[in-house]
Amino acid sequence: MKDLKVNEERLWSRLMKMAQIGATPKGGVCRVALTDEDKDGRDLFVQWCESAGLKIYIDEMGNIFGRRDGRFNDLPPVLSGSHLDSQPTGGKFDGVYGVLAALEVIETLNDNDIITDAPLEIVSWTNEEGARFTPAMIASGVFAGIFDLDYAYSRTDKEGLTIGDELKRIGYAGEKPAKAESYKAAFEAHIEQGPILENEKKQIGIVTGVQGARWYHLTILGRDAHAGTTPMEARQDPVKVAASLLSQAYALADEYLPDIRLTFGDLRPSPGVVNTVPGKLVITVDIRHPVDEILDEFEEKLNKIVQAHGAKLDNFWKSPAIVFHPDCISTVEQAVANTDTSAKHMISGAGHDAVYLSRVALTSMIFIPCKDGLSHNELESAKKEDASAGASVLLQAMLIASKK
Ligand code: HGY
Ligand code: MN
Ligand code: MN
Repeated sequence: MKDLKVNEERLWSRLMKMAQIGATPKGGVCRVALTDEDKDGRDLFVQWCESAGLKIYIDEMGNIFGRRDGRFNDLPPVLSGSHLDSQPTGGKFDGVYGVLAALEVIETLNDNDIITDAPLEIVSWTNEEGARFTPAMIASGVFAGIFDLDYAYSRTDKEGLTIGDELKRIGYAGEKPAKAESYKAAFEAHIEQGPILENEKKQIGIVTGVQGARWYHLTILGRDAHAGTTPMEARQDPVKVAASLLSQAYALADEYLPDIRLTFGDLRPSPGVVNTVPGKLVITVDIRHPVDEILDEFEEKLNKIVQAHGAKLDNFWKSPAIVFHPDCISTVEQAVANTDTSAKHMISGAGHDAVYLSRVALTSMIFIPCKDGLSHNELESAKKEDASAGASVLLQAMLIASKK
């Protein structure tokens, strides 16, 4: 079955159809977790899964599973999937590609009347992005036993709405415990979200691991005051403190180039109005690096800068750097060899549900290039032929892994 390929047109047309849900003017999508748009995307995915003959079940975290029985259903299944939720200014492919590539594997097996030895399961994980509810990958995290259900249900968005309530509101608070059973292997296909594959003209990334990621709240306190009457020297202005603190943080990052990643993505003064000097400024901090010990060192030095400015740095998410299982990486290598595509080994700069899944199953990932390495941007794009090449590698990997 080495020459078995997915149906490129069907995969591409489904990617484009899904992209119509939450479509944004610049050609991206906004299907933020547990919003009505996310629900609509979930409903479409479930509809496609049912028409492909999959048995659907939803777990307590709203993770959507579709199961295809094999010849020997006492064997643990081979699992593949990703996420349907997007960034507020997201693209057509981040997450969605891995969900629909997994569905395309099922459709191709159906078209060719192929029954695998082990059963197959495909999955769409809830709230991978962490854009509305932090931390990211929380639902695969509950599934892997990293977070408990009550903690996850209690996470709130900026309006104070909780994951638990929003899951119920959109009708995706399932009965099944969000708890991993055993899996023969697990794969996630995803766009690279960086420039490496495109620069090196490789079609497939054989992903060997994922870099470490840490999220913090940086809080700077001041004193609310009138913008017109308060003399400059009489102010306690947290934005002025931030100007000095952030420039020293960026200078620190320069000492850790080229691998460090430092992002201040959400800066929130309060009360946040034009004519009041803010009394408080809360800034989110996202730091990444392939080596945890470097992250420890960077965090320590950043904390010194923060304390010297009378501010506070509170960590609220830590995702250690991980390495995928060699057996799963070699399955992807075999699959690449079967499909004769150009490939390179690489680690992932972005976080993925595969990070937590790798705690409970032999896991690895398959990357395809995206244009200019751009992602978390409405202009995110990928090529039809790369999307089908990646899905054909996933097909081969699942066939290899599902053998008795
Ligand atoms: O943050 C990440 O790396 C992923 O996109 N959630
Ligand atoms: Mn993603
Ligand atoms: Mn993302």
